Amino acid sequence: MIQIAPSILSADFSRLGDQVQLVEEAGAEVLHIDIMDGHFVPNLTFGPALVKSLRGHSKMRFDVHLMVEEPEKFIVDFADAGANHITFHLETSRHAHRVIQQIKEHGMTAGIALNPATPLDGIKYILQDLDMVLLMTVNPGFGGQKFIPNVLPKIQVLHRHLEQTHSSCLIEVDGGINLETAAAVAKAGAHILVAGAAVFAQADPKLAVAKIRHAAVLIKGE
Ligand code: DX5
Ligand code: ZN
Repeated sequence: MIQIAPSILSADFSRLGDQVQLVEEAGAEVLHIDIMDGHFVPNLTFGPALVKSLRGHSKMRFDVHLMVEEPEKFIVDFADAGANHITFHLETSRHAHRVIQQIKEHGMTAGIALNPATPLDGIKYILQDLDMVLLMTVNPGFGGQKFIPNVLPKIQVLHRHLEQTHSSCLIEVDGGINLETAAAVAKAGAHILVAGAAVFAQADPKLAVAKIRHAAVLIKGE
């Protein structure tokens, strides 16, 4: 089943509670929350306090995407704030296995993200421990960037491998997802589609969620 994960990075921050409510009403399963530290990526966003404020406004699963160096330092704070899931980047962690265990010990599901240039090889021996793999389809740091089509074969290879091993690990894609690319990533095997600008930069974010789902589901024949 395809899940849609609106990213609040492109939302109107002056009325964030309302914007989150809109996409929840639209049936989005997951809320994608981008945490940037100005080191791993050239931008700054939010911290655990924002997650805590939103927690009171939404029943959606909170999918925290950590684009920060030393992700292990922030696991407890995001767990306490009400996150359901944490994804950290393979490129930021020398002890990825330990970070995954730490996330799970705090009652959350764990994901690992790979930049477009990072091969799948690095997760070979930790795949069994992961609930999700996030394949970046742009270079992380900003919303509204152009989808990098070279990632499509990477989605296909991972999808095939997960099927062959009867794994329940999900593939999330993030960056440049719109009606056209939603169909392409769904066809390649993605399960969770993050969409920022394609939802919140639209006149009707509710309708936008429905349209993205329709485009993805049509191609999958669900
Ligand atoms: C980019 C973030 C994305 C971003 C996606 O580094 O990880 O989640 O919000 O935005 P769009 O969908 O606009 O590319
Ligand atoms: Zn993200």
